[in-house]
Amino acid sequence: MVLSTTIPLLLYFILITLIANTYAKTCTTQNLTDASNNNKLYANCMDLPKQNAFLHWTHNASNSTLSVAFVAIPPFLGGWVAWAINPTSTGMVGAQALVAYKGDDGVVTVFPLNIQSYSMTSRNLTIDVWNLRGEEDGGVIRIFVNIKVPENAVTLNQVWQVGPSVTAGRIDRHALAPENLNSKGPLNLDGSQSVVDGVDSRTKRKNIHGILNVVSWGFLFPLGIVIARYMRIFPCADPTWFYLHVGCQLSAYIIGVAGWITGLKLGSQSEGIVYTLHRNIGIAIFCLCTIQMFALFLRPNKDHKYRVFWNVYHHSFGYTIIILGIINIFKGFDILNPEEKWKSSYIGVISVLAIIALFLESKTVLSTAGATDGTDVSNTAQPSIKLRWY
Ligand SMILES: *[C@@H]1O[C@H](CO)[C@@H](O)[C@H](O)[C@H]1NC(C)=O
Ligand SMILES: *[C@@H]1O[C@H](CO)[C@@H](O)[C@H](O)[C@H]1NC(C)=O
Ligand SMILES: *[C@@H]1O[C@H](CO)[C@@H](O)[C@H](O)[C@H]1NC(C)=O
Ligand SMILES: *[C@@H]1O[C@H](CO)[C@@H](O)[C@H](O)[C@H]1NC(C)=O
Repeated sequence: MVLSTTIPLLLYFILITLIANTYAKTCTTQNLTDASNNNKLYANCMDLPKQNAFLHWTHNASNSTLSVAFVAIPPFLGGWVAWAINPTSTGMVGAQALVAYKGDDGVVTVFPLNIQSYSMTSRNLTIDVWNLRGEEDGGVIRIFVNIKVPENAVTLNQVWQVGPSVTAGRIDRHALAPENLNSKGPLNLDGSQSVVDGVDSRTKRKNIHGILNVVSWGFLFPLGIVIARYMRIFPCADPTWFYLHVGCQLSAYIIGVAGWITGLKLGSQSEGIVYTLHRNIGIAIFCLCTIQMFALFLRPNKDHKYRVFWNVYHHSFGYTIIILGIINIFKGFDILNPEEKWKSSYIGVISVLAIIALFLESKTVLSTAGATDGTDVSNTAQPSIKLRWY
């Protein structure tokens, strides 16, 4: 059962890779002709900078008509492709889109889609389109259309997209990787090509949010805990460890709060897309951490009888923060979907820290075992290593 669906999928992927490679060249080798214009070659074409898509077009200024052929490959068998003009803005909201997919019956369906907002669409476009048709050839879908453009128009905003599937005639949401979110740019009707391969400001802000939080919850906090747990067992490091620990956690907290605020802002600006779990874990971490910071001032003296309770609370909150922080960092990686090297580097850094901690832990446990054997470790040249919790 599983095999019978896996094998066609696998073959499709191989096919797509082959097609993608042949198509990875440039639009000029595609030789697309315009059926609405005596089958002449389109006057211009461009390799769209994202998602391996292409646009061919002819602009006839004397009758304000733009004739377009859009070429793209859906990410999965049964997926959709879309190309749009946005007369009011540069992104998805306001886009006057043309969508195509190949149904199970092999028929290519193509329809207009007016994206009024993230949650509201209609089939009535605000622009005039005619001669709309779609075709599919070996996994590649093409959309052909004629569009009335404003007189004297020089540049239009175009947006394009590919999506995984279609359910009951409705297209399902596309992926939210930077590749998808940056599939937009100017279309210069005269055929000149502006550089559109930039990173949008939202992705930039997401990257900043990611970096701040990885540095804070993902690195400085665990480092501070390692310092507190292992450095203080060396009498010579007392009270240095304490200042290092407080300094580490305090700077982690400041950076973390900055990261947290950027996250809240990103969340409030993202209509229609809510990462509930990522957001809630983030809020929980912030609350726990803020309590930790205030608890510093409520810390009973070392010999106070309640100090033991304070320690239990402080340590359990600390470890919870680390665990939640690392979970949320990986959730963030899934959302932002950066290049693999960033995730691997982080895994590398955190593994090194974990190995150091494990090494120190084994040293501590061993020497504690030695001490309970009656060996007086404090007389040796080694510093006295004892597992102390407070
Ligand atoms: C496209 O046209 C050029 C020039 O006319 C020709 O050399 C090339 O073989 C054509 N490519 C395809 C795929 O038809
Ligand atoms: C303008 O002319 C082109 C052919 O050059 C044709 O395809 C298009 O339909 C015409 N537009 C209008 C509005 O008639
Ligand atoms: C533009 O459209 C007009 C009207 O349809 C037509 O006469 C003319 O030949 C077209 N120009 C080009 C370059 O196709
Ligand atoms: C779309 O346009 C048609 C014809 O103008 C109209 O009857 C219909 O109500 C419109 N639909 C929507 C959802 O606006």
